[in-house]
Amino acid sequence: KSLVVAIDGPSGSGKSSVSREAARRLHAAYLDTGAMYRAVTLHCLSTGIDLKDAAAVEHAARAIELYISTSPDRELVTLAGVDVTTAIREPRVSEAVSAVATTLGARAELIRRQRALIAGAGHRIVAEGRDITTVVAPDAEVRILLTASESARLRRRGDQLGGTQSSSQLQQQVLERDAKDSTVVNFQQAADGVVTVDSSELDFEQTVEAVLDV
Ligand code: CDP
Repeated sequence: KSLVVAIDGPSGSGKSSVSREAARRLHAAYLDTGAMYRAVTLHCLSTGIDLKDAAAVEHAARAIELYISTSPDRELVTLAGVDVTTAIREPRVSEAVSAVATTLGARAELIRRQRALIAGAGHRIVAEGRDITTVVAPDAEVRILLTASESARLRRRGDQLGGTQSSSQLQQQVLERDAKDSTVVNFQQAADGVVTVDSSELDFEQTVEAVLDV
């Protein structure tokens, strides 16, 4: 029997690391949909596509040769065969990614690709992002909104970046990105039938277990 686990949540909720580990333990595939938005953004930045030009951004999303590994043990994203796994995490991409996420034509294209990846993943997959429980896979057997308090989210994101940015800078960037993203996707409140897991007071292992319990 096939199993789709959909997990949404804001930046710093622990979504990616928790979802990847949950996938490992479930012997499931894993899809990081945020990485796909990041890849389109990187492509636009490196080829000089104006992120304010919706038609150009949509065209880029349709035209790119994007590969993303769905193995939880192998993190790999390529654009036209070039490994961009690390490049898509650069701050310049994080700063620009909401422009792609709010371009509806680009979203439609990525949603289409994500549905195909989920359908082709075999018997089990954990897919995470901002709109998986509501738009990409609303029929998923398991739907979770992973939340955390603002302070917990900022602390985690700060740890992840290893103190390369000041905390006020980081706070501004993370909150700004969530605010922009919220104009097109609702990941602040659980939709009907979506189970909320609040990780504010949980460590990594406890959060993975809370997800597996659901
Ligand atoms: O860095 P963080 O883990 O917070 O975000 P991410 O999962 O890497 O996603 C990066 C960006 O992609 C988000 O800020 C959204 O703009 C966009 N995104 C989206 O719009 N819909 C999704 N399903 C996943 C990501």
